[in-house]
Amino acid sequence: MDFILTEDQKAVKEAARDFAQNELLPGVIDRDRDMVYPTEQVRMMGEMGFLGMMVSPKYGGGGMDTLSYVLAMEEISKIDASCSVIMSVNNSLVCWGLEKFGTEEQKQKYLTKLSTGEQIGAFCLSEPEAGSDATSQRTIAEDMGGHYLVNGTKNWITNGNKAAIHLVMAQSNKELKHKGINALIVEKAFSGVSIGAKEDKLGIRASDTHSIMYSDVQVPKENRIGDDGFGFKFAMTTLNGGRIGIAAQALGIAAGAYELALKYAQERTSFGKPIMNHQAIAFKLADMATEIEAARLLVYRAARMKDLGMDFSTAAAMAKLFASETAMKTTIEAVQVHGGYGYVKEYHVERLMRDAKITQIYEGTSEIQRLVISRAILKGELYQPMMSNGQKV
Ligand code: CAA
Repeated sequence: MDFILTEDQKAVKEAARDFAQNELLPGVIDRDRDMVYPTEQVRMMGEMGFLGMMVSPKYGGGGMDTLSYVLAMEEISKIDASCSVIMSVNNSLVCWGLEKFGTEEQKQKYLTKLSTGEQIGAFCLSEPEAGSDATSQRTIAEDMGGHYLVNGTKNWITNGNKAAIHLVMAQSNKELKHKGINALIVEKAFSGVSIGAKEDKLGIRASDTHSIMYSDVQVPKENRIGDDGFGFKFAMTTLNGGRIGIAAQALGIAAGAYELALKYAQERTSFGKPIMNHQAIAFKLADMATEIEAARLLVYRAARMKDLGMDFSTAAAMAKLFASETAMKTTIEAVQVHGGYGYVKEYHVERLMRDAKITQIYEGTSEIQRLVISRAILKGELYQPMMSNGQKV
């Protein structure tokens, strides 16, 4: 498996980098401070094809591979993780799941608008009492014959107020536990959908996070994704890919903090020389660079495995676990390298440190990733080394 980028992949990376520098960097501090949703920037991301990168051109998407998506996520996350979470949810949790498991009618009706950014999507799994323990869904989708009647509350929903389309996981048959859960396409415009207050968050503050209430919402049967009871499998399978997106986000946050720390360490002098020439600082940069490169290999590998049609769920969990832990460590160190300047908003690294924290929490906490990995170990599905020809070690 090699990671030598094709000309197309290099072009995607370059385009994302330019876009982030030119369009996201100006105003990023203000949007974070004031919790201002990046409306214009999201519109531009849609125009540039960043919101439906892996969707087939037949449905308005870019038809790109997962590695291209990861490269774009990495570059955009270096500058603005609020924009990259909007992008990640739309690409990997909403568009990907709809294209993979939706009916032709569902794709015609919803996917084209989502992949072009004309509409934004939300993935509604978490609940006030079902975060890590996602099988404990309390939102009910009662089968009424021609439609489902949905009642319940979803929490911490990214794109919560902006999303026109919600993919909602809800329990239709409690006795069947997770096998009684359905995934439903719910339009924000459906009667009975209401949006809670915007969350005031530590990081990714410009992204739009809300709870959503469903009260006697009638959802037509044709809006169910997959067979009756497929909803939990849908959510988990979709999240496997989502975790690659968040791993790429974490990688980008870490790499962004590293680039700033390196620049600062070369410019700032103390005791008569650039601080990069003090071993105390140089070794920090050495550790950051090494860990980021290791995270990058795990993330790219998970993306390649997905593109090759291999089972990538453990690889995605490893990538997300390592990249998000690396993002946290690297951003803390980047603040330290900046000293007092690192503690003020102007220098960006304190924001990256706040943004890094969520990558250890959403789309499965670090503890859940360890659970997934340890279960794979217990089942004898050991991790395959980089040079493996497909045989288990
Ligand atoms: N891929 C495919 N299928 C999976 C899976 C995976 N990664 N993990 C579990 N499943 C399947 C199992 O095979 C099983 O199916 P069968 O019964 O058909 O065999 C079913 O799901 C139930 O699995 P378990 O028996 O292992 O259930 P569990 O309760 O012991 O563990 C869990 C489930 C792994 C802990 C799961 O609940 C989980 O991943 N929790 C974390 C939830 C999460 O990631 N939430 C993120 C919210 S979305 C978000 O954050 C978006 C955002 O805004 C940015």
